[in-house]
Amino acid sequence: MTWQEHYATDFQQVFGTPLLNLVRGEGSIVTDDEGNDYLDLLGGIAVTCLGHNHPALVDAVTTQLRTLGHVSNFFTTPPQLALAEKLASYLPGAKAFFANSGTEANEAALKLARKHRPGGGFVALSGCFHGRTMGTLSVTHKEAYRTPFAPLIEPVVFVEPEDVDALRAAVTEQTAAVILEPIQGERGVVALSDSYLRAAREITQGAGALLIVDEIQSGMGRTGSFFAHTSAGITPDIVTLAKSLGGGFPIGAMLAVGATGDVFAGGDHGTTFGGNPVACAAALAVLDVIEEEGLIANNAEVGAAWARELAELDGVAEVRGSGLLLGVAVADAATLHKELLAEGFITNAPNPETLRLAPSYLITDEQRAAFTAALRELLERRRR
Ligand SMILES: Cc1ncc(COP(=O)(O)O)c(C=O)c1O
Repeated sequence: MTWQEHYATDFQQVFGTPLLNLVRGEGSIVTDDEGNDYLDLLGGIAVTCLGHNHPALVDAVTTQLRTLGHVSNFFTTPPQLALAEKLASYLPGAKAFFANSGTEANEAALKLARKHRPGGGFVALSGCFHGRTMGTLSVTHKEAYRTPFAPLIEPVVFVEPEDVDALRAAVTEQTAAVILEPIQGERGVVALSDSYLRAAREITQGAGALLIVDEIQSGMGRTGSFFAHTSAGITPDIVTLAKSLGGGFPIGAMLAVGATGDVFAGGDHGTTFGGNPVACAAALAVLDVIEEEGLIANNAEVGAAWARELAELDGVAEVRGSGLLLGVAVADAATLHKELLAEGFITNAPNPETLRLAPSYLITDEQRAAFTAALRELLERRRR
């Protein structure tokens, strides 16, 4: 039996047939079951920020697993305490709730907002993606994801990004929270402007609603600052994290700032695995490497140079995003993504007009150049 037949038989078909059966990874290279190497420009969708098999991450996880693997939230542990403190150094005044994924971090944020304003509704943006649980799906825009699961949590209003008047009209004293991504990944890596983020802060504050900033994809330094919303000079009530936080080890976090951090009381929310010491040790190791190696400033510099190079290619309409979260605007991105894969490059196409790049922060100049050359060649081939 081939692995494709095995997959078709033994798995629920939510993901379609996987593109490859991957067996190994080292740095930005992954290897399939036939020994073919691929340059990983997607990083497990913005997750493996230190690449594959990074020694600091492997050491932290194995050492912690040997020391104390799991205890539940009846107890705390040194890595859990240290991680909460570390995250508060990036978001002063924040108190942590740890989860295992992005959707769980957002789910916790939505619950907190409902508790803060009982019965309150939510406002989210067109094109947004916040997760697949019933709560986070309710504030996710794509109809195809939502329709089979109606009725979802209500009331939820979607407004067009950058339309401040629409946001002002949608947010009332019955709104529990506005939730937004500073860079909308699924929409095609489209950043919100600083002025829109500031307006969202001012409007939510005026209505007594919470502002939840979903930094699950954009956070942890990927875009050239620890959080993508920092350039707007705002402080959200809640910031959610996951993906790169654990560098490939599952962990999510819901950070609530100031009084928002005291909204949940005993028993309001919970998790068996969230805040697991191994996951927290992984996140601490990731953040240490990011800090020690100056990777955030490096992402800003390298990402800007790469975006300029890619934008110059014939066939690329524009390059959106910043740092190492880039959306390359091309025609028929889905076909290009498959052609790139056949050439040994892993990307993805969040929509028909965008190739998304979210590689390891440690991707080398040569690796970036190899991708740029391959993309140039494929785009040229299209014109022949
Ligand atoms: C912005 C954003 N929020 C939430 C999620 C959901 O995270 P997870 O897939 O870990 O549940 C994602 C995942 O792609 C995301 O990009």
